[in-house]
Amino acid sequence: MKNIDSLINQDVFHIQRSGIRKFFDKVAQVDGAVQLTLGQPDFRTPDHVKEAAKQAIDENHTTYTPNGGIPELQVAATNFMQEKYGLDYKAESEVIATIGASQALDITLRTLLSHGDEVLLPVPAYPAYEPLIRLNGAKPIYIDTSKTNFKLTKKAVKEAITPRTRALILPYPSNPTGVVLSKTELAEIASVVQGEDMFIVSDEIYSELVYDHKHQSIAMFPGMKERTVVINGLSKSHSMTGWRIGFTFAPAELVTHMLKVHSYNISCASSISQHAALSALTVGKDDAAAMRAEYENRRNYMLERLLEMELPVEKPEGAFYLFPSIAKTGLDSYSFAEKLLFEDKLAVVPGTAFSQYGEGYVRLSYAYSMDNLVEACNRLERFVTRHSV
Ligand SMILES: Cc1ncc(COP(=O)(O)O)c(C=O)c1O
Repeated sequence: MKNIDSLINQDVFHIQRSGIRKFFDKVAQVDGAVQLTLGQPDFRTPDHVKEAAKQAIDENHTTYTPNGGIPELQVAATNFMQEKYGLDYKAESEVIATIGASQALDITLRTLLSHGDEVLLPVPAYPAYEPLIRLNGAKPIYIDTSKTNFKLTKKAVKEAITPRTRALILPYPSNPTGVVLSKTELAEIASVVQGEDMFIVSDEIYSELVYDHKHQSIAMFPGMKERTVVINGLSKSHSMTGWRIGFTFAPAELVTHMLKVHSYNISCASSISQHAALSALTVGKDDAAAMRAEYENRRNYMLERLLEMELPVEKPEGAFYLFPSIAKTGLDSYSFAEKLLFEDKLAVVPGTAFSQYGEGYVRLSYAYSMDNLVEACNRLERFVTRHSV
């Protein structure tokens, strides 16, 4: 047999392991490290959700479900979108229950992309987008948002569109920056995309964790619903990362094709998790409120401490991350994170885990208890004081 490397799909071969995961291997070597690394809520899944799952097992809801999900869940998901964000989708034809937002992104991109297509990708960005684009033989076209407060602008989108552009990933509220686009900023982007033969893949997984105003979806602007796939899910809103339930909301014509990819790939999401999700979206439709209030307190605390340390940072309006500049230390992101881990036993994620455009920044997650955050900030302050140039 030939060298195995040459037998592997070359798009797969060239994909790198996530920078976050690589850094976790290092963190695991340091005993007693305080962490600000995780992108998952530190709250428990609500009890009524757990009870619904137990009941689903007892009632033998343990078989395959329809490919797009159990009809009650499709109704609950579309009602939720209507009530929370004013978006109208048909339960029977415009929503698919997926295995987390991750699989929702995967089936969306696999349905839309062909070899040689271009996808506009605002960066720094969540690390999964780029490999998912490349797995389809398509090319990410980076749009550097670091000079525009991590906001995608109308001008940047306009300049990046070519005849090969098939989609724009719209990743707000943003992981890793916590930045959100205002209604006016979304309207401007919508105005550019409206005239183009392309889709928007709007990753709104943090939509329930927006602090200073209500979340707005690009799909609500005139003419946008028909060209937008909204990605959402329960991982962050209901602290259900391990249950693996997400959704795509898209025009029926597109959903027909997405369902083919979805059904040959996974058949359906877990029947038990779907029943749990039904409870989350009905009984627990406001479950995120208490968590959001707690995250907001933590954000305010962290922001104040970072400003005291004179680390420049955008005020996050959503999600549970801060993305401060570490330029004043003169260290690159990886050296900063490595030294901080070994010298002061604090783990943060290097900005370069979110593309090369994250160089000069680190990501801090505040999905941790206040005690943890206080100790983490004390350690960070000591480190930054020692390393300021
Ligand atoms: C921006 C973003 N999109 C998608 C996901 C994946 O979410 P899920 O756990 O529902 O697959 C994450 C998880 O961290 C994320 O941060």
